[in-house]
Amino acid sequence: MSLPAVHHDPSLPERVTIYEVGARDGLQNESGVIPLATKREFVQRLTVAGLPVVEATSFVHPKWVPQLADAADLVAALDLHGPTPYPVLVPNERGLDRALEAGVTHVAIFGSATETFASKNLNSTYEDQFAMFEPVVRRALDAGVKVRAYLSMCFGDPWEGEVALDRVVTAGERLLGMGAYELSLGDTIGVGTAHHVEALLDAFGEAGVGVDRLAMHFHDTYGQALANTYAALRHGVTTFDASAGGLGGCPYAKSATGNLATEDLVWMLDGLGIAHGVDLPALAQTSVWMAEQLGCPSPSAVVRALTAG
Ligand code: HMG
Ligand code: MG
Repeated sequence: MSLPAVHHDPSLPERVTIYEVGARDGLQNESGVIPLATKREFVQRLTVAGLPVVEATSFVHPKWVPQLADAADLVAALDLHGPTPYPVLVPNERGLDRALEAGVTHVAIFGSATETFASKNLNSTYEDQFAMFEPVVRRALDAGVKVRAYLSMCFGDPWEGEVALDRVVTAGERLLGMGAYELSLGDTIGVGTAHHVEALLDAFGEAGVGVDRLAMHFHDTYGQALANTYAALRHGVTTFDASAGGLGGCPYAKSATGNLATEDLVWMLDGLGIAHGVDLPALAQTSVWMAEQLGCPSPSAVVRALTAG
């Protein structure tokens, strides 16, 4: 297998954490329902390939996301106390109850920077979402469970258009203020470009939120995810969400397509000489296997290049 030549720039981070979302963000968007055994094997293969965090599923309403209705069964099949955390999404106290019953150690709440997406994704107003999350975070922390926060539509919204930087910062600060250890900034529909990323990170910095509390969550709808990742790396961000093979989207934002492919990210990090701990051949083989299960080829350029012929 070919590898990129390494040219390290000492001003870039030495190491990044890849937060793998394929089993959740990827599979939530599949039209068919994937068998539990396939999901379990997917998560296990991702773990063996060295992904340091593997988001597993969501404890959302099964009618809203039927693809992940088997969340409790999947979690029951995972080693929740091994070295790899398996976070799950929880939108509300009902979701948290289910997740705690299943024994999870990490949860993620997911807010919206815009009114319309709060309504479409959470059946909530922008304001009410915070009241919904507050007891979730408090009770999770009381139970010794770590809480991450996502914020969607940080770079644009399909119904509302441009989203002002200060609106994103205000929403993000409120989620972090509840006690989330990290805020993942979602470009849900992939419309962001590199200077927008820099401007948003600057705006958070001016508000006193450093890059150590931030992660980036890019969807690759317009092919900008790697350029945006590079811009964020230059700003010192060290956690990036990505999805094996580029699976993904959001069932409540039809213009959302797959996430940044983990393989594409790994290839770039390898060339930049930035450590990540992931076994690229094992990961690419996993994505090829998953593509066979789903019956459609991976959109990742690196998966295609590495496994061609
Ligand atoms: P709702 O219908 O308003 O819920 O949905 P409700 O509170 O009115 O309750 C209605 C019924 O649902 C009740 O049952 C509840 O118990 C039950 P009843 O008393 O009628 O028998 N219920 C639940 N059951 C199971 N699990 C639950 C749950 N909650 C209520 N958690 C809700 C509100 C938030 C639940 C719904 O809107 C929902 O599930 N939304 C999730 C949508 C979703 O998962 N979207 C994709 C993830 S976000 C994303 O992909 C973006 C991200 O990747 C970042 C980015 O790219 O930007 C993270
Ligand atoms: Mg997403």
